[in-house]
Amino acid sequence: MDKAKDRAVMPKGTASILENRSLANDYSTIVPILKKGIKVLDVGCGTGAITRGIADLVGEEGQVVGIDTSEDLINIGKNCNEHIENLNLYCENIFEFNTESKFDLVVSARVFQWLENPKDALHKIKTLLKPNGIASILDYNHTKLEWHPAPPKSMHKFYSAFLKWRSDVGMKNQLALDIPNYFKELGFTSIETIHVNECYKKEDSNFISKIGIWKTVAETRGKQLVKDGYINELERLETIEEYSSWIESDAQEMTMNLSETRGTISR
Ligand SMILES: C[S@@+](CC[C@H](N)C(=O)[O-])C[C@H]1O[C@@H](n2cnc3c(N)ncnc32)[C@H](O)[C@@H]1O
Repeated sequence: MDKAKDRAVMPKGTASILENRSLANDYSTIVPILKKGIKVLDVGCGTGAITRGIADLVGEEGQVVGIDTSEDLINIGKNCNEHIENLNLYCENIFEFNTESKFDLVVSARVFQWLENPKDALHKIKTLLKPNGIASILDYNHTKLEWHPAPPKSMHKFYSAFLKWRSDVGMKNQLALDIPNYFKELGFTSIETIHVNECYKKEDSNFISKIGIWKTVAETRGKQLVKDGYINELERLETIEEYSSWIESDAQEMTMNLSETRGTISR
């Protein structure tokens, strides 16, 4: 059986989804805590699309480091963001990352969902914080995804297989529910959870691309599901075809259940 680490590898074709994200649209709850001059670590920064927004807000006297295990994504990120002087991106795994200077704020968006040991990752983050530093984790409860009206049966079947493919290697599909407990168990204080569901409606200009995330997942990660025996190739292709025409015709709304939890560490 593959370990979560192998299944979590971002497949080719997903960089464009990450590069389309921004701080304002996809992690806006942290904007009020991005003070000028602070030092921030973004864990699992992908191509740095959100991270560059953080660098902008902390100003030139602030410093931002982004780390990600994907060398491809970090290389894209370095090319896109080389003009930003207070931003540095490194290919690093959070569990092995070490640095002498500590951070005022460590953030991590949509990363813990891919870990089999998310509490250990938060523990590692705790060691990277300055006294009174803040950790912020933004992640999903995938069991609460809602489409309106219901998508084709092939997508329902694909999505169930996707959740099972994840949980079979220890990834937590209801992760957003567990994160506040990790903060408590690890001794963080001033713990706060903000619900920030991603809701896309037909009238939104980005509706097709946002609701199309599940078409991209079937096109990319779907190949891993076929290889691992969770669906067959015909089912994968049928899902892509039927979901694509549903998006263009019947689809009205999709809501992904997302929450940010943050806490402070005093030492
Ligand atoms: C879904 S992407 C999220 C990217 C970005 N934070 C965003 O919200 O768009 C998850 C990222 O976490 C990275 N990742 C997974 N496990 C990691 C680990 N142990 N250490 C650092 N990065 C990791 C993946 O390579 C991937 O780029």
